[in-house]
Amino acid sequence: MSKLDNITKESRLEWEKGISGMFQEIADSYEKINTFISMGMDQGWRRSQLKRLEQYLKDAPVLDIGCGPGSLSALAKKELPQARFLSTDISPRFLEIAANSGNADVLAQVSASDLPFKDDSFAAIVSAFVLRNLPDLKRFYKECHRTLKKDGIVCMLDLTTPAFKPISFFHSIYMKMALPLGAKIYGSRVEAYKYLDRSIKNCYSQKEMNSILEECGFKVLHTDKKCMGTVTIYTAQVIK
Ligand SMILES: C[S@@+](CC[C@H](N)C(=O)[O-])C[C@H]1O[C@@H](n2cnc3c(N)ncnc32)[C@H](O)[C@@H]1O
Repeated sequence: MSKLDNITKESRLEWEKGISGMFQEIADSYEKINTFISMGMDQGWRRSQLKRLEQYLKDAPVLDIGCGPGSLSALAKKELPQARFLSTDISPRFLEIAANSGNADVLAQVSASDLPFKDDSFAAIVSAFVLRNLPDLKRFYKECHRTLKKDGIVCMLDLTTPAFKPISFFHSIYMKMALPLGAKIYGSRVEAYKYLDRSIKNCYSQKEMNSILEECGFKVLHTDKKCMGTVTIYTAQVIK
């Protein structure tokens, strides 16, 4: 996630090309490594995210940004069968995996920076472990504001740097060791996982994230801290 304010179109596209290429390379082993690094807790976090979503579903679809292998929509099929997911990602290989595994039913290749959808289309926009990869977070939230229906919500799960310094210190050491180790065990690219470690440091704090949401026209409803603040679920409602 970039903290630059006036990012140009060229640098945004270049950033997205790089990120998409990197995710293409790790797509096949991503799910196993994610479960390894999170010590199997990732599904529980996604479950909490779906719980937040439940009361806002209404009669409109849910847009999943950066769906990866479709882990969230697969879980929603069991836990929230009334939700109609549109699963999207910038990396074609992830879309293939999500479709072939049966994790996701309706898919499209979409960049979070330019949502190719009409205004007022969705009841909710969700993402899991995506925000810190985006070149321009405010642009993404403004696109969410435009495409959400009145009273719709964003519900975003991501890794965060904990505010409490000792936890933040041990978390950073853990990530430095666990990410390359996971990549080695599952035969993925160690370099790509070093990027993931760096990207966590690039994250906004919970306070900063909530003020960006407010700046982009949202009312923050919940900030759910998981795993001692190393993971956060942000739920915010659009003001229209
Ligand atoms: C860490 S994976 C998360 C996958 C999945 N959401 C999960 O719960 O595990 C990040 C995903 O975001 C996608 N992504 C990265 N930048 C993106 C962008 N600008 N627009 C859309 N998707 C993007 C990547 O291709 C990748 O599938």
